[in-house]
Amino acid sequence: MNTLTVDLGTRSYPIYIGQALLGKPELLEKYISGQQVMLVSNETVAPLYLQTVLDMLAGFETATVILPDGEQFKNLDTLNTIFSALLENRFNRDCTLIALGGGVVGDITGFAAASYQRGVPFLQIPTTLLAQVDSSVGGKTGVNHPQGKNMIGAFHQPRCVLIDTNTLDTLDDRQLAAGLAEVIKYGLIHDADFFAWLETNMDALKARDKQALGYAIERSCAIKAEIVAADERESGKRALLNLGHTFGHAIETGTGYGTWLHGEAVATGMLMAADLSARHGWLQAEAVQRTEQLLQRAGLPTTPPESMNEEQFRQLMSIDKKVIGGNLRLVLLKNMGEGIITGDFRQELLSETLNMGS
Ligand code: NAD
Ligand code: GLY
Repeated sequence: MNTLTVDLGTRSYPIYIGQALLGKPELLEKYISGQQVMLVSNETVAPLYLQTVLDMLAGFETATVILPDGEQFKNLDTLNTIFSALLENRFNRDCTLIALGGGVVGDITGFAAASYQRGVPFLQIPTTLLAQVDSSVGGKTGVNHPQGKNMIGAFHQPRCVLIDTNTLDTLDDRQLAAGLAEVIKYGLIHDADFFAWLETNMDALKARDKQALGYAIERSCAIKAEIVAADERESGKRALLNLGHTFGHAIETGTGYGTWLHGEAVATGMLMAADLSARHGWLQAEAVQRTEQLLQRAGLPTTPPESMNEEQFRQLMSIDKKVIGGNLRLVLLKNMGEGIITGDFRQELLSETLNMGS
């Protein structure tokens, strides 16, 4: 097992990464305050792993909420079912929530913990690659609104993140690829050597080689932990983690939540960001090609949906959380491994990028 730390002073927390960590109760127990534990999962993950986690919680007063599965259920109605379960079970302020599942379960559960009785602790047990390398770390929680992705939420850090890489054995190939999009993101924004490592090891990752996956998860979590520790509330550098997300969120909302997976939309968004960077002369054409090839080898889409036009993109992008004073800022690339956050891009070049699918 490897342990990383998200260094946030008194709110610092560990990320445990290893095989067969479900079944080691000592990794969870010390982060649970009080006796009452609400375990939140969904109808796909619960039959696979819920009982194992409940067995780790012997000695606590436990209750469970099983959510419907899908991005289209990441909304206020689903959130409310968690509040109802907490109240029906008379859970008080001293309770702890545990999220067992992918990023959807993690984001909703985290937001429930952030707001139930003005805030209670929660732990993350991520079971998708995407959740293990990104969403379970860093404390962004929330739900979607019909008009915009993740528009309602809060920053609320977990007390610990427990990553059992064996849970990936049951994940299908499309979801594994979606997680690889966020892994590739870290190489693009922060670590050119890691990007090159991914180029060398993509076949091993796709074949689910445990050593390769373990390294990719550790390196991704280490980069995310470093960025979050430097800028927890996204007043600067953390926005780099949104490479491809402004385009990607528009694709997810524009095509209907759940049609494109989050990681697929981010993959296409990252290529759009690379394309726009190259149109400004900031990024070499060769770097754009390498990005496209790596995303495609991961099994990810790189062309925006034909059903979306420039106007729809622009409308959806105008409510991005990085808009300040009415001005859209984008995460673009100055070089391989070097992201920048800028509002200083040319509108006619953005138009060209937004039309690259037509
Ligand atoms: P997801 O939570 O929908 O999970 C994908 C699918 O895999 C679901 O059907 C789920 O039931 C299933 N699943 C989960 N674990 C499994 C397992 N071990 N075996 C078999 N099936 C399993 O999607 P995701 O890709 O994990 O997360 C995407 C969400 O994360 C989006 O809502 C996105 O906005 C959010 N996100 C949040 C952050 C953050 O910082 N909070 C970062 C990135 C993404
Ligand atoms: N996934 C973006 C962030 O955590 O900031």
